[in-house]
Amino acid sequence: MSASQFNREYYRRFYENPTTAIISAAERRNEIRFVLSFCRHIGLEIRRFSDVGAGTGWWAREFGRQYRSCRQVETFDASAEAARIYGHRRVSAQELAGLPSDLVVCRDVLRYLPDRQAKRAIARLASKCRGVLYFQVVTSDDEVDEDRSDMTGYFRPASWYRRTLERAGFRDVGMGLFVSDKFSRFDPFALEVR
Ligand SMILES: C[S@@+](CC[C@H](N)C(=O)[O-])C[C@H]1O[C@@H](n2cnc3c(N)ncnc32)[C@H](O)[C@@H]1O
Repeated sequence: MSASQFNREYYRRFYENPTTAIISAAERRNEIRFVLSFCRHIGLEIRRFSDVGAGTGWWAREFGRQYRSCRQVETFDASAEAARIYGHRRVSAQELAGLPSDLVVCRDVLRYLPDRQAKRAIARLASKCRGVLYFQVVTSDDEVDEDRSDMTGYFRPASWYRRTLERAGFRDVGMGLFVSDKFSRFDPFALEVR
């Protein structure tokens, strides 16, 4: 993928212009409420939050409104323009490092990487996350509105991601929620995990 594809025009079209955006303000708020409810449900206190491939940074901004007690919020993106415009650290998912986070978000990023790099990024996400990973990606199993969406990337089967994330040390609890095996207090009933 070309890094320059992620420029101001891209973010305006797919995120900031309400007539062409792929997600509405209400959907954003609800998604974050949903993830935070799950974290509360399993007793995860979020002291550090990280968004990897943060784009416009909307997740971290809304997270800040809904979870005010978290002091350590970090956002990363590989795009020079995203880093400059939205204030992220310019770090790719494959190079992710630093102190562990309780909640890590990686949303619609890994489809831009070929298999080997995507595997490497998943290994970095596993090192970084000590609680919950909220992971979303377009797969070859999805039906996508092609007129409205960015159709570039590598569309792998959902099973590829599930397998790679599980091997890296995450438990798949559905709806994009993956619990790190470092979070030892997670003790669900058998039906609650895949
Ligand atoms: C489709 S946007 C998603 C943005 C945001 N996560 C969201 O869900 O709104 C993809 C973002 O991933 C970033 N990106 C692409 N490859 C990346 C990589 N290897 N590491 C980190 N960020 C990457 C792009 O610069 C872009 O901002």
